[in-house]
Amino acid sequence: MCGIVGYIGKEQAASIILDGLSKLEYRGYDSAGMAIFDGEKLRTKKAIGRLKVLENITRGGETLPGCSGIGHTRWATHGAPSDKNAHPHTNAAGTIAVVHNGIIENYISLKKKMADKGYSFVSETDTEVLAHLLDYYYKGNPLETIIRVLQRVEGSYALGILFADHPGEIYAARKDSPLIVGQSALGCFIASDVPAILKYTRTVYYMDNQEIAVLRGENISFYSMDEEEVAKESATVDWDADAAEKAGYEHFMLKEMYEQPRTLEDTLSPRILDKDGEKDIVIEELNMTAEELRAVRKIHIVACGSAYHAGVTGKYVLEELARIPVEVDLASEFRYRNPLLEEGCMVIVISQSGETADTLAALRESKAKGFRVLGIVNVVGSSIAREADACLYTWAGPEIAVATTKAYSAQLAAVYLLAMKFARVRGILADRDFAALLADLKCLPDQIELLLGQKQKIQRFANRYLGARDIFFIGRGIDYAISLEGSLKLKEISYIHSEAYAAGEMKHGTISLIEDGTLVVAVSTQPALYQKMISNIVEVKARGAFVMAVTNEENREMQKVSDYCVYIPETHPCFTNSLAIIPLQLFAYYVAVGRGCDVDKPKNLAKSVTVE
Ligand code: AGP
Repeated sequence: MCGIVGYIGKEQAASIILDGLSKLEYRGYDSAGMAIFDGEKLRTKKAIGRLKVLENITRGGETLPGCSGIGHTRWATHGAPSDKNAHPHTNAAGTIAVVHNGIIENYISLKKKMADKGYSFVSETDTEVLAHLLDYYYKGNPLETIIRVLQRVEGSYALGILFADHPGEIYAARKDSPLIVGQSALGCFIASDVPAILKYTRTVYYMDNQEIAVLRGENISFYSMDEEEVAKESATVDWDADAAEKAGYEHFMLKEMYEQPRTLEDTLSPRILDKDGEKDIVIEELNMTAEELRAVRKIHIVACGSAYHAGVTGKYVLEELARIPVEVDLASEFRYRNPLLEEGCMVIVISQSGETADTLAALRESKAKGFRVLGIVNVVGSSIAREADACLYTWAGPEIAVATTKAYSAQLAAVYLLAMKFARVRGILADRDFAALLADLKCLPDQIELLLGQKQKIQRFANRYLGARDIFFIGRGIDYAISLEGSLKLKEISYIHSEAYAAGEMKHGTISLIEDGTLVVAVSTQPALYQKMISNIVEVKARGAFVMAVTNEENREMQKVSDYCVYIPETHPCFTNSLAIIPLQLFAYYVAVGRGCDVDKPKNLAKSVTVE
């Protein structure tokens, strides 16, 4: 995934582009570059490394004067990070420049055809083939040329394009990779995501697939691939600028952990409404009648990473409360498995970014098979949000840290709402039980706040494990789901190897890895399984493990067999993941900070994996 910014207007473009790219570094940060029209020609500058490098060599953009330009911050897919592989890519004459987010899946065959026509390539990227194709077809009409080129291209793209002989214009096109257009008195913008231009405008247009935008000073036109003009409604971004900034926290991740109470509030409360004096769950976005909800005979949840983990929690909660069979799949597996989706099945895809390629593909696969798809998505206007038959937004706001926290918590809240809605319309939840669940649901934000208050205690404990080689997370039932997420959090930001295991499964092999002092994090929040978990803890301790238990305040038995206990407040067994995750997030965060890792931008990762 990469970040794109473009600007055309009255101001110097380079500094605006650099500022915008700095808000998109979470999308990729191994190299960056800009192309600016200086009044006569296109001038391009690009550099390996963080955006800071580009800022330094262009003296904050001063060495690239001009009022229109495009910029890019890269997450390498084809070709290692290098100056040459950084974007923008240009034709040999340097009269056409292009920045790209996505993958040109047929670039190898296109590259061969262009080489056969005498074109030479300076980079290893797929994107460069676009620059030469544009050159090949260009006869003076940029829009016509772009359409010709895109008709030959397979794959995904968000593009910013400059033509030196059309200095007052920037061209943009998208398919399957996000791209927005912004408009203000200062001029017009293109960007991969809202934070890049929020400082300049709140008026944006979300580009649809295979649309082309032409930005001319203050005017914007949109065209279809038939070269017909398309009328588009603008949207107003209601985030405040701080929402996309750190607001005094050391890292975005810490800020976003502390936003979780608010996130749950924002996700839950608009859907828990008073109806005839009774509280009920109303999820209008579902677009499903009570009868249609009752007709659902099975649910497939499909996602990646943490969103998948939220889906695993969803399985336990939906089966427990709504008695609907649920299958959970990794999107990258689901899409190539020719999945058996039977009559009465509903697919739920979960995605924070709404742009994860595998999840988007799973959505399309399910729709192609004629099945209804509900998206649980955080980014408004994202591809998954727009292509799903219905979208349940998790109102977590912009999540900048690569490691998800608040969006994940909001995903849990969304599956609770769904489970309770299904249970209610299917007559499975008695009024009293429903009211009790609602009461527990509403307590979660304050309980999360309480748990966040334990950060010093967790930080002290985390500092004992900065040099750990392996850390295991074990749990049973819904606690296995949260172990998956706790383990991923630790791995992805601290780079310590970790595994999550169904506690009952450890003795079938993995327990052989437990040595003296190995840290095992045992999550035990299900009263019906307390005793089983105690047995599993005793097993690992017998092999020398040090056990950190995350358990309910009532479970004092656990204290006798564990070395270190973190307690969570009482809530319904279906909701404990929302609480148990807090100490696990804090643990991962402080281990990573203690190890000097880049918490917000971990190595090798990107915020949204828009490639396979
Ligand atoms: C989570 O911390 C990771 N960054 C990653 O696993 C992420 O959850 C996964 O890539 C799915 O992203 P999505 O929710 O945007 O689809």
